[in-house]
Amino acid sequence: MAQINPSILSADFARLADEARAVEGADWLHVDVMDNHFVPNLTLGVPIVESLRKATGIPLDCHLMIEDPDRWAPQYVEAGAGSVTFHVEAAAAPVRLAREIRAKGARASMALKPATPIEPYEDLLSELDMVLIMTVEPGFGGQAFLDIMLPKIRRTRDLVARHGLDVWVQVDGGVSASTVERCAEAGADVFVAGSAVYGAEDPAAAVRGLREQAAAAAKGAAWACGH
Ligand code: DX5
Ligand code: ZN
Repeated sequence: MAQINPSILSADFARLADEARAVEGADWLHVDVMDNHFVPNLTLGVPIVESLRKATGIPLDCHLMIEDPDRWAPQYVEAGAGSVTFHVEAAAAPVRLAREIRAKGARASMALKPATPIEPYEDLLSELDMVLIMTVEPGFGGQAFLDIMLPKIRRTRDLVARHGLDVWVQVDGGVSASTVERCAEAGADVFVAGSAVYGAEDPAAAVRGLREQAAAAAKGAAWACGH
């Protein structure tokens, strides 16, 4: 089942509660946490996640683009995130961190920047609920989708299938009506979309449209057969 996660990075930060309501029907709300060190941009932290949790019933998918996630990620679970993604490039002990996130009650997810391959982390997949494949360099919304990431999506899906695991494969960056099908065909089943949702006249309709496109594309894809 294709899941669509609107990214509030493209929303109006002064009206976050309204912006969450505008995407009613979304599977998760994608919350980009940036610390101005791991990426050259600064967004929000734990207090805003706590407030968002109270403002919406949509589960929160926190994407931590921060240094030292080993130290900070558990606080996002406590703040109410249903899923917490750390970047493997920044994590000192990814296995320990994934276990801690799960033990605290959230889904644990590992993100890969475009230049980071999945293969070295094959043995970690059983510790994870999701792998996030960045399809732009992290830091900003509204960038162009990197086609060269499609083989990595495919290889990640293959590894997950080979190990018989139920690990979601999320894509983030430049996902829109013109790229979502390629991602789904390659093996993604969770789609983050910022500008494609919040830039649309009717954000909730954009979510439904992306989900239909992704579901239709996955139906015909080899990886989804028997899924
Ligand atoms: C980028 C963020 C994304 C961003 C995606 O570093 O991780 O979640 O909001 O925005 P779009 O969909 O506009 O590329
Ligand atoms: Zn993100």
